[in-house]
Amino acid sequence: MMLKLLVAVFAAALANSASALPGFQYHQGDLASDIATEKSIALQGALDNIGPNGAKALGVSAGVVVASPSTVDPNYFYTWSRDSALTFKMLVDEFLTGNTGLKSHIEDYINAQAILQTVSNPSGSLSSGRGLGEPKFYVNETRFNGAWGRPQRDGPALRATTLIAYTKWLLKNGGMSEAMNVVWPVIKNDLNYVAQFWNQTGFDLWEEVSGSSFFTTAIQHRALVEGATIAKQLGLSCANCESQSPSVLCFLQSFWNGEYIVANINTGVSRTGIDANTILGSIATFDPDACCTESTFQPCSHRALANLKVYVDSFREIYAINAGISNSSAVATGRYAEDVYFNGNPWYLCTLAVAEQLYDATQQWLGHHNLFISDIDLPFWESIYPAAKIGQYNSGTPSFDNLIAAAMNFADGFVNIVGKHIPSSGALSEQFSRENGTALSAHDLTWSYVSYVTMAAARHAAIALNAAAQEPNQVPSWGERYADIVPSVCVATSAQGSYAAATAAGAPPDAGGCTVTVLFDVDASTYYGENIYMTGNTTDLGNWSLADAVPGNAAKYTSSRPLWYFEIDLPASTTISYKYLRQESDGSWLWETSNRTYSIPACGTQAETGNVVVESSWVGPSGMAPR
Ligand code: NOJ
Ligand code: NOJ
Repeated sequence: MMLKLLVAVFAAALANSASALPGFQYHQGDLASDIATEKSIALQGALDNIGPNGAKALGVSAGVVVASPSTVDPNYFYTWSRDSALTFKMLVDEFLTGNTGLKSHIEDYINAQAILQTVSNPSGSLSSGRGLGEPKFYVNETRFNGAWGRPQRDGPALRATTLIAYTKWLLKNGGMSEAMNVVWPVIKNDLNYVAQFWNQTGFDLWEEVSGSSFFTTAIQHRALVEGATIAKQLGLSCANCESQSPSVLCFLQSFWNGEYIVANINTGVSRTGIDANTILGSIATFDPDACCTESTFQPCSHRALANLKVYVDSFREIYAINAGISNSSAVATGRYAEDVYFNGNPWYLCTLAVAEQLYDATQQWLGHHNLFISDIDLPFWESIYPAAKIGQYNSGTPSFDNLIAAAMNFADGFVNIVGKHIPSSGALSEQFSRENGTALSAHDLTWSYVSYVTMAAARHAAIALNAAAQEPNQVPSWGERYADIVPSVCVATSAQGSYAAATAAGAPPDAGGCTVTVLFDVDASTYYGENIYMTGNTTDLGNWSLADAVPGNAAKYTSSRPLWYFEIDLPASTTISYKYLRQESDGSWLWETSNRTYSIPACGTQAETGNVVVESSWVGPSGMAPR
């Protein structure tokens, strides 16, 4: 009952504000009330997937976000750094606008992340920093050893941004010592990671392509910029943030090809690069105080709008459910046109992200009281408003109002499409069928719920700004205006970071000990379908268990040198026993004949000499390719 009442009040407020100004009369229908209803379902849906008390997160550690309760086809019952940070960014923003009940969840999250930072994993350890690039863990905060697209370098940047948003609140609310002692040590590790590794390749957010990724680079820039500022507010400094952020912004320009933002570069994969990656990157770096800056691809920038059109159009022809929809209207969108995961379908979070970018852009135009159309985004504008021309439009004129109304209408179209494919329960899965719109893949996907809430908040802010009648509750600025000047020469730099367990936040005090990165090279000829693994007597090596054996990397395997390698962070001054293994294409295993031993050098070796390398050749039975 209570919920119904609240929903009705919220809907009425939105409906009133929508009709308050002449220019803003777009066809809402029941959209405002539908959004209000689904937003509360979505917020609850996200909370249900968070331990320890979430209804669908039984047995999950406190503050840990499960990607989805689905345990088969696909099994998403893990916690991803990216999904978790995006979830808590949304929860912090909701907290900041008055949902005070979320505070204890945020505190649990800080604690969980402090612990996860210390968990050595196949990407590495905390001591070297490399472990922070691990994309996912078990929900009881232990390492996941399976083969995976790793590292993924967006996690630490997103987490830093989320924690900085909360730290700003602490600073304004008497929480200086909590900010300084509890949260900052977690943030500092992540900022150091970004400053050290931003210029190294990694897997994209879809965990498929190794290279440089727009989404990752964009949020890395943001994290370093706000990291420098929050450090100052704490009376400290982040020298690495300051030294690296201009170079990151410089590199970010490489993703623009003159027509759209290319999602992944420096890859061996041939795709158009037209990808939701770029829309998600634009909304994750939206700053309500920014100009329509081209360099940071702000939602209202010419580049980001041109990109939005190219991205949306790439799905018009390929999904059956988009058939017959006019080129000027919204359609269902997915990750990228070439996607084959679950046969490649529209995703709720992608379609909603398009709407969110346009609501963000609207907030910017309304804030600036003007809007410019250039040759770059003219095709976007013409498609939704045929009378559009290159030029400047000022607020208070009918053309300005018409353009904004057209953008808002177009945005609402994406929300309506999603709405058509939400089952009556309001539950959001990951995908909906390209053929008939039924829900597919992981059910109750946390990120889908999150995307609904952030879309609704962005829409609310746009409408409230227009009406000037209620608090717009915009997301906080990250200082984009002071950090959008691109250096004239790009430098491929890096700053060596230092990393420590955030014990005051709950990281185990004995964790995070000094490790050395050891490169194990083994020459082992393999046939196509046969893989080399390594196992041994410690947790890092899988404790002789086949299930936890470390998968080798064949990226440097050539016909002249059959090289497999393993780059593993191992505790300094310890001795390990290990063996290489072959996994045959039928899944069976062949072991090397005898155990090997190796004594890891003392702490500090790596920084002085670079990686320690152990060279060897396979000694044992050779595999036989199936006939
Ligand atoms: C699981 C990943 O999460 C997903 O993004 C990817 O498309 C599939 N694996 C296939 O690589
Ligand atoms: C697959 C998606 O591609 C990836 O971005 C996400 O992190 C995981 N699923 C978990 O939701």
